[in-house]
Amino acid sequence: GGITTLDAGFKNTSSCESAITFLDGEKGILRYRGYTIEELADKSDFIEVIFLLIFGELPTSEQKKKFHKDIQSKSLVDADVKKILDGFPKTAHPMGVLSALTSALTAFNPQSVEVSSESDMYNAICKILGKFPVLVSWAYRKEEGLPLAYGDNTLGYVENFMKMMFESPVEKYVMNPVIVNALDKLLILHADHEQNCSTSTVRIAGSSHAGLFASISAGISALWGRLHGGANQAVIEMLEDIKADGGDYQKYIDKAKDKNDPFRLMGFGHRVYKNFDPRANIIKVAAEEVLNDLGIDDPVLDIARGLAEVALSDEYFKERNLYPNVDFYSGIIYRAIGIPVPMFTVMFALGRLPGWIAQWREMRLNKEPIGRPRQLYIGATERAFVPVEER
Ligand code: CMC
Repeated sequence: GGITTLDAGFKNTSSCESAITFLDGEKGILRYRGYTIEELADKSDFIEVIFLLIFGELPTSEQKKKFHKDIQSKSLVDADVKKILDGFPKTAHPMGVLSALTSALTAFNPQSVEVSSESDMYNAICKILGKFPVLVSWAYRKEEGLPLAYGDNTLGYVENFMKMMFESPVEKYVMNPVIVNALDKLLILHADHEQNCSTSTVRIAGSSHAGLFASISAGISALWGRLHGGANQAVIEMLEDIKADGGDYQKYIDKAKDKNDPFRLMGFGHRVYKNFDPRANIIKVAAEEVLNDLGIDDPVLDIARGLAEVALSDEYFKERNLYPNVDFYSGIIYRAIGIPVPMFTVMFALGRLPGWIAQWREMRLNKEPIGRPRQLYIGATERAFVPVEER
């Protein structure tokens, strides 16, 4: 009793105090630890942004080197984890595989579950940062029927990931700096976004003192849905459908406006951004650059451009402040760099990992209470039990 406020979807409720990410949805501002996303995407790199999000400051070059080394030194994944992967059908969605393998890491690293000191916490953080890209590459290679690879500690974080993903047993892997740069930027743009659905899930799961890996596994499951991270896969599928349908995007805009049709324009709208999504602006330019640099002519990009243009001048979308979000263009880049559609949301998870870690760490260091929302009960009042033979 006594609870009178309802805030379905937490549209107007702060669940915590946080010093990590600032977001102003009216002005389209996104900052990590005070630095604008535009500047970080332009001048920083992913490993630096990981450090910044988790520890609060940009690293010195010494700190950066040490941090990267510590991550690399923890990157081996127990070979028995491969047996778990073996049990999945090839057709399994890689998000499910990733969530399961991340959770399984708990069993192989039991000392990372109870973190009673800062150094335990640091070790658990380096472990997940080192092992996660390996698991992502395994989820992909399983689907492709490729032998599983381990990383190469002479390479940068993103380069190493690219090699693990795409190296072939018969050919030397040739690194393409255009692709590495594009991916680095995408990962930075996805790295944190305050209390979104998956991050709130990580914080709530972790608030029971479930370990870091288990909490992240819960976050991966939350990210999977098409209203959240799954939107990037849904966007490309939608654009492909429009292409197959002769490129008639007006038809899809009309469908999205029709209140009797459950269809929504995927990659449009955002809970917080009501004028534009700053990440979408950066990604749009990056997508054009990558396609140019790689000499790819993707008709899907033309459809995306046309669709966005028409929707942006349509009353329905204007009235509701619906703009392309980060997921609208990211899939075009993923496709251009050879990442298959079911892996798109996995790439989002790889980018969001540092945000999840930073938020989990903040929650633990702040000694936050267990997350336990209340409810407004609307069910039956007290009823007398009726034995089964009398019902
Ligand atoms: N297409 C058509 N109509 C839409 C759309 C859309 N994509 N998004 C919102 N609306 C309408 C909605 O029908 C409602 O109309 P009305 O007021 O007439 O009932 C109004 O706009 C407000 O929508 P809402 O569902 O109340 O807003 P929300 O804040 O609960 O939802 C959202 C935000 C992102 C889930 C939603 O905009 C959506 O479903 N978008 C498509 C999926 C998508 O792109 N998701 C990725 C989000 S960004 C990255 C991430 O978070 O992972």
